[in-house]
Amino acid sequence: MKVLVLPDPAAAADRAAGIVAGRLAEAPASVLGLATGETMRPVYAALVRRHRDAGLSLAAATTFNLDEYVGIAPDHPASFAAFMRQELFDHVDIDPARAHLPRGDAPDPAAEAARYEAAIVAAGGIDLQLLGIGRNGHLAFNEPTSSLASRTRIKTLTPSTRSANRPAFAPGAAPRQAITMGLGTILDARACLLVATGQSKAKAVAATIEGPLGAHCPATVLQLHPAVTVVLDEAAAARLALRAYYETVHPGGGEAQVG
Ligand code: GLP
Repeated sequence: MKVLVLPDPAAAADRAAGIVAGRLAEAPASVLGLATGETMRPVYAALVRRHRDAGLSLAAATTFNLDEYVGIAPDHPASFAAFMRQELFDHVDIDPARAHLPRGDAPDPAAEAARYEAAIVAAGGIDLQLLGIGRNGHLAFNEPTSSLASRTRIKTLTPSTRSANRPAFAPGAAPRQAITMGLGTILDARACLLVATGQSKAKAVAATIEGPLGAHCPATVLQLHPAVTVVLDEAAAARLALRAYYETVHPGGGEAQVG
């Protein structure tokens, strides 16, 4: 893993956006895997700025989001589809027909999960997968004890994830399940870019990078992937035992290619 530690969340978001933009500059028709969550807002804002000011184009790109809530339609304001329109899609030149999310309101969610997995394969697979991390070490909605080989499927959310998501929903309406790419699906991406900021992620980040591989912390599956870049701010890096080593390899969170 390449571990890049930036001074603050804004610098981390900008570095992550720079890596995504670099990939698109090299290969405009890239297939990007996209993530939601608070961590991603400044990353997408930085991509939008690059689109407005620096000629970044997503016109030829295809995107697949990691996950969506079961029972939530794309026009629901708390859907991940709405998040993506608000934070990115409405502000760049992406073709909406190539910006994919699982349909949370599909009549048969299990069939929708299988369709989604097949659509990723049909698009040629994901070139660069953007990832956040849950406080419990989840990736997408692969909660602890998820199979490290899992594919896109329905997952029941843990109480801690539900309570983190609750503010976005009316009282009592926080979804219990999601359609999520599996950990095996994520491992199939040709490169992964994990972004984590803030003290609340420090424990999960240390477990992911330096802890034992295991389903108790699903993000540890990234240790099996040959091309992972992790972009952190100082707070998220605070519990890394080998922090000084990463600083030696990439001083100041220096320039890095994914891979
Ligand atoms: C949700 C998403 C994950 C995301 C996580 C952390 O559970 N499904 O993909 O990584 O939240 O979100 P945040 O960045 O808001 O901490």
